Amino acid sequence: MINLDKQKLPRHIAVIMDGNGRWAKMHTIGRILGHKKGAEAVRTTVRTCREIGIKYLTLFAFSVENWSRPSEEIDALMSLLEEYLDKETNELNKQGIRLRTIGNIGSLYKTVRDKLDNSIKMTAGNEGMILNLALSYGARDEIIEGVKKITQEAQQGKIRPEDITKEKFGNYLYTKAMPDPDLLIRTSGEYRISNFLLWQMAYTEFYFTDVLWPDFGKKELLKAIAEYQNRERRFGLTSEQLQKNISANAKI
Ligand code: FPP
Repeated sequence: MINLDKQKLPRHIAVIMDGNGRWAKMHTIGRILGHKKGAEAVRTTVRTCREIGIKYLTLFAFSVENWSRPSEEIDALMSLLEEYLDKETNELNKQGIRLRTIGNIGSLYKTVRDKLDNSIKMTAGNEGMILNLALSYGARDEIIEGVKKITQEAQQGKIRPEDITKEKFGNYLYTKAMPDPDLLIRTSGEYRISNFLLWQMAYTEFYFTDVLWPDFGKKELLKAIAEYQNRERRFGLTSEQLQKNISANAKI
């Protein structure tokens, strides 16, 4: 039984869902069936995060680099996403979850974009949790796009270069108005961030597990959060400074 401290929950969890292909190989079935099983793990993770009170969940569902996979695999991933939206939008509404996306959404198939638009509209009023799907997402592209927007605005005199701050720049990214992830989970024993949320993860705690994504269930998620709760997040300060800040805040 894993007990979590409700006062110390990560506000935002980001997940690199890796290992569907290896899971399929292990079970001597095709890669696409591995992704199908991966989509089931998505359902469990979304439900569990909502249940325990996580406010933002960002899932890396399709990277810009994934466009180079075999076309049958891309088609299957897109169909799984459509199927997820068809089947789960009502469920998201029931659970008070709002859907959002980050990434180059314009590059997705029109059928996928239409379904995403519909689900985003249908869930727009929900305030329980934000489910943020990273689709056709690449962090370097996101940063370059942000730089282009901000330099255009500077040329138009809307912002002065000397007024550009870290906080302001954050508003030019796909994730504007979202807090940075507190916890990143990556499954399948790989220790990389693979061009995911490079700007936003400056102070994120990383949790790596050998478990393959299709096997990542409720217990695995709780284990990751419990480990996060045992970490000391210092944001560049010393332990002593942190303790002082905590006691000072407690007095206020
Ligand atoms: C990585 O496994 C996973 C992906 C590239 C896609 C993630 C997609 C899903 C979990 C299913 C559909 C998503 C939704 C939101 C319904 P991999 O293929 O790279 O695995 P491998 O490294 O073992 O080959």
